Amino acid sequence: MEKIILDSDPGHDDAMAIILALGNPNIDLLGVTTVGGNHSLEKVTYNARAILEKAHANHIPVHRGCGHPLLRPLTIADYAHGETGLDGVELPEPTRELDEGHAVNWIIDTIMSNEPNTITLVPIGPLTNIAMAVRMEPRIVDRVKQVVLMGGGYHVGNASAVAEFNIKCDPEAAHIVFSQSWKITMVGLDVTHQALCTPEIQSKIDNLGTDLAKFASGLMDFFRKAYQNNQDFIDPPVHDPCTVAYLIDPSVISTRRCPVDVETHGTLTDGMTVADLRGPEPSEEDCNTQVAVSLDFNKFWDLIIDAIKRIN
Ligand code: BDR
Ligand code: CA
Repeated sequence: MEKIILDSDPGHDDAMAIILALGNPNIDLLGVTTVGGNHSLEKVTYNARAILEKAHANHIPVHRGCGHPLLRPLTIADYAHGETGLDGVELPEPTRELDEGHAVNWIIDTIMSNEPNTITLVPIGPLTNIAMAVRMEPRIVDRVKQVVLMGGGYHVGNASAVAEFNIKCDPEAAHIVFSQSWKITMVGLDVTHQALCTPEIQSKIDNLGTDLAKFASGLMDFFRKAYQNNQDFIDPPVHDPCTVAYLIDPSVISTRRCPVDVETHGTLTDGMTVADLRGPEPSEEDCNTQVAVSLDFNKFWDLIIDAIKRIN
């Protein structure tokens, strides 16, 4: 059982990551923390609570985190996620109160009060909260089991030619996170652009016929149109749950170890994750970062469909 903290900015694909984490028996979701990214902190925090409500998971704590990047103004992605951050579906009113305490404090306290090497951090939004947590309590770096994040890419960007949205939103935070000695798996666009919700996949979701399946399908309808209108995609890439799928079954994603750093001063390359893929693959002792390189499409979607089925 993998104990995880999902640090997120829901978001259509964040919603799918939350659903996958809730619906898979090998994941123990300790809590959801929120960060300004896809939309304002207020909206994404509401969305996180609404998704948990929809998935009958009101026992999962939600802590609100940082609303703005460390140094830069927040640039939201409403072109991809709409006015509410979760356009295309009707959200239930959350019945559980927002949990008290700032997300960064909660992340630190949770890591420090659990056994070392037992908690995996899964950031699927800008890395502001995680960088703040490192600065406030550097001992967390040695205590977490690993960090598996959605962000970056080594051959293509989406927020610019070379930068991915989560990293470009807060490059300084990303730089802090990638500079630590913890084990990091960067699940970037190289792989998440393969996680397409094709019409065949969506009809499998529809065939489940449950309330949650309709919700997921409504999210995908909106996401498809947004990606068709803004990014020249036919089917939407469902980025964020790739992280959770990798934790459930590492054979879903193949990886390659290599040093990764984040550009914070580039004129054209701000927010680029610079992966050094030269030469032979370094050993685990020599390199603590790895990048995702390919996705097993069928295994990935089977996990998501299975999770939606189990929740209802
Ligand atoms: C990432 O940016 C957000 O819009 C998505 O939720 C995902 O985390 C993809 O670039
Ligand atoms: Ca996200």
